[in-house]
Amino acid sequence: MNIVVFDSGIGGTSVLEHIQKKLPHAHYFYFMDNLYMPYGKLSLTDLHQRLLGTLKAAIQRVPRIDLIVVACNTASTQGLDMLRNSTHIPIVGVVPAIKPACIISKKNIGLLATPATVESSYTNTLIQQYALNKSVYLYGSTALVHLAEEKFWKGSISIAKVRDELQKLSIHSNVDCLVLGCTHFPFLKKEIQTVLGDQILLVDSGAAIAERAFYLMKDDSFDTLNPVPSLREPHLPQYFSTAPVPSTNIAVECISLT
Ligand code: DGL
Repeated sequence: MNIVVFDSGIGGTSVLEHIQKKLPHAHYFYFMDNLYMPYGKLSLTDLHQRLLGTLKAAIQRVPRIDLIVVACNTASTQGLDMLRNSTHIPIVGVVPAIKPACIISKKNIGLLATPATVESSYTNTLIQQYALNKSVYLYGSTALVHLAEEKFWKGSISIAKVRDELQKLSIHSNVDCLVLGCTHFPFLKKEIQTVLGDQILLVDSGAAIAERAFYLMKDDSFDTLNPVPSLREPHLPQYFSTAPVPSTNIAVECISLT
């Protein structure tokens, strides 16, 4: 089973980790369009062009794709319909966890995402649909995307940088549940929790996306040639990027989109 995962950078690997736990024996192909990161600052036309380029690159390189996971809230809230109209391959997207946050929260919720996700009409519709008796405070940040990348590639980040950015955003004291509506942000969960304190619950969509991927793929997950999947080693994901990455921690093949 071949599963392709997209994002602008390493954010989508926070979702990939969840999917790998549910479907450990699939082959994973991770495409990061880091030449154009952050996606949260692209025009809709440019974003669509990059997503179509990534789709084409994936189809050229991966023999038979069973599922595509757009592991990026920015791309999903603005490009999922366009992508679904461009291919017959099933596509799962990641959107901010507004619905579960509304069920959990006893006060009000906050959405921390890229400016593009925060401003998208898709997000606005989610809020209209699910946040009936609650206020949803919106916080857009691209600085946190860069800090998450820095932490991933360097292995650590100064908490002062995360604190500075969160202070600028000034999260409302009425918020008891903060939605991490960008797949990069779970990499900063520890720092964000330390700065905001334990009274705020951080919610992301990773586990829900993995459930959805498992549901769609479960009939294919039993491989008749290898009927005891637990005895096989999981495959390492193959990584592709559109710009060189700052470390050799993982092997990444650099490609150009056409
Ligand atoms: N990881 C992407 C998301 O979930 C955003 C990063 C970007 O703006 O490129 O929204």
